[in-house]
Amino acid sequence: MVASLNPKATNSGNSGQADPVQTDLAQMDAESLWHPITQHKSFAQKPPKRMTKGVGCYVTDADGKEFFDGISGLWCVNVGYGRQELAEVAYEQMVDLAYFPLTMSHEPGIRLAHKLLELLGYEGKVFFSTSGSEANETAFKIARQYHAQTSPAGSGARYKIISRYRGYHGTTMGALSATAQAERKLKYEPLVPGFLHVSPPYAYRFGGDRPEEVYTAACLQELEQTILYEGANSVAAIIVEPVISGGGVIVPPEGYLRGVREICDRTGILLIYDEVVNGFGRTGRMFGHHHWGVQPDIISFAKGLTSGYMPLSATVVKQHVFEAFLDEPGSDSHFRHITTYGGTPVCTAVGLRNIEIVEREGLPDRAAEMGDYLMGRLKQLLDHPNIGDVRGKGLLMGIELVTDKASKTPLDDSRMASVLKHCMDKQLIIGRNTNTVPGFNNVLILCPPLVITREEADRMADTIQEAVFALPDV
Ligand SMILES: Cc1ncc(COP(=O)(O)O)c(C=O)c1O
Repeated sequence: MVASLNPKATNSGNSGQADPVQTDLAQMDAESLWHPITQHKSFAQKPPKRMTKGVGCYVTDADGKEFFDGISGLWCVNVGYGRQELAEVAYEQMVDLAYFPLTMSHEPGIRLAHKLLELLGYEGKVFFSTSGSEANETAFKIARQYHAQTSPAGSGARYKIISRYRGYHGTTMGALSATAQAERKLKYEPLVPGFLHVSPPYAYRFGGDRPEEVYTAACLQELEQTILYEGANSVAAIIVEPVISGGGVIVPPEGYLRGVREICDRTGILLIYDEVVNGFGRTGRMFGHHHWGVQPDIISFAKGLTSGYMPLSATVVKQHVFEAFLDEPGSDSHFRHITTYGGTPVCTAVGLRNIEIVEREGLPDRAAEMGDYLMGRLKQLLDHPNIGDVRGKGLLMGIELVTDKASKTPLDDSRMASVLKHCMDKQLIIGRNTNTVPGFNNVLILCPPLVITREEADRMADTIQEAVFALPDV
């Protein structure tokens, strides 16, 4: 029997007796459920785990075995599992008013929009949707319509959206077009016209021997040149995650975001932050961009907005963007965009209470403290020949695995999978950048709930160390 990461755990699974209900469920799963981003033939050897309960940082499977969730579901359960008060608030709101669209209004929607602007510290407007992909689609449509309504007559349509290679911005056709990960797009192309990509500030692989400020200037020059060659009057917006997450956890160098802002200001391009993963304490501040003090024109939020307890996302625009949509009734200047479930009373009530928890429990500070601690532990692994880089901000961390430090050749798929399997056998779930850039799916990703304790951080680090030390040789 393996040791659980949870010192209070009372069992690590049942006695192996087959429960007929569980057997039926496994059969029904195999017959009817299409699981995302997985080759179903692999389920013949290893059916998907069925989770039944979550408390704090732990989830329990149908066999009663408990796992430490080092990736917060899909990077979203910031406040941890099993929060009774979120269930209560959802119940109460469902009883009062389960549904009403924001073509009219409701109190939880108003209060959450107000709260988001208060946290951001500026005037603006909040548009609710249900997923991160939709929040970004909304941002792209706003950016295009904004320019269509503000550009001088005859200056041409600004419609292009720039994003950075390795960045993930969602799964719907527009958001996927902004996603600059070839494996995610394979067999779905052609996508939406007008999306183009530039290099991310990825110092570990491309910084070389250059000092940080020289490399930063080179990344910014590439962006500026791209805009120049495309024609600034054709570019509507650039979308960036302050810290790239699913693309392999890439933290920008100090002056990078400020430089992007300056280029946007010079060229009239809107700056969109995708804070879908970064937001709500994940990086050790309430929002990822707070580390650099550089404001965007538009922001997308999802995931940590409700900690995954309800499907909700938000696109926040600054007031100057919103004002481009104001005109006389009957004109076509209003935002002609709606989704049935965007910002329901229940979702927004849960979002509001979730933010209350994040603030009440000081989770951004806690993420900063625990992140520093865990990072300190993980940096000790840098002596290992297969650990090329350890990086991150707060509780969003990446460990880049290589065959050797000199060549930086990415570790192959099977050895990456063996690290994840070793952790899973020790009841620790961690992530990995999957199906991103061909040949570069070699970053382990850690993104635990922000309520992680120091003892749990130690156990995570110990288990990852064991898993890396157990790597088979080339
Ligand atoms: C940075 C980022 N943006 C957007 C999305 C899309 O969010 P959703 O899966 O809710 O559509 C994700 C999802 O992982 C993400 O990581």
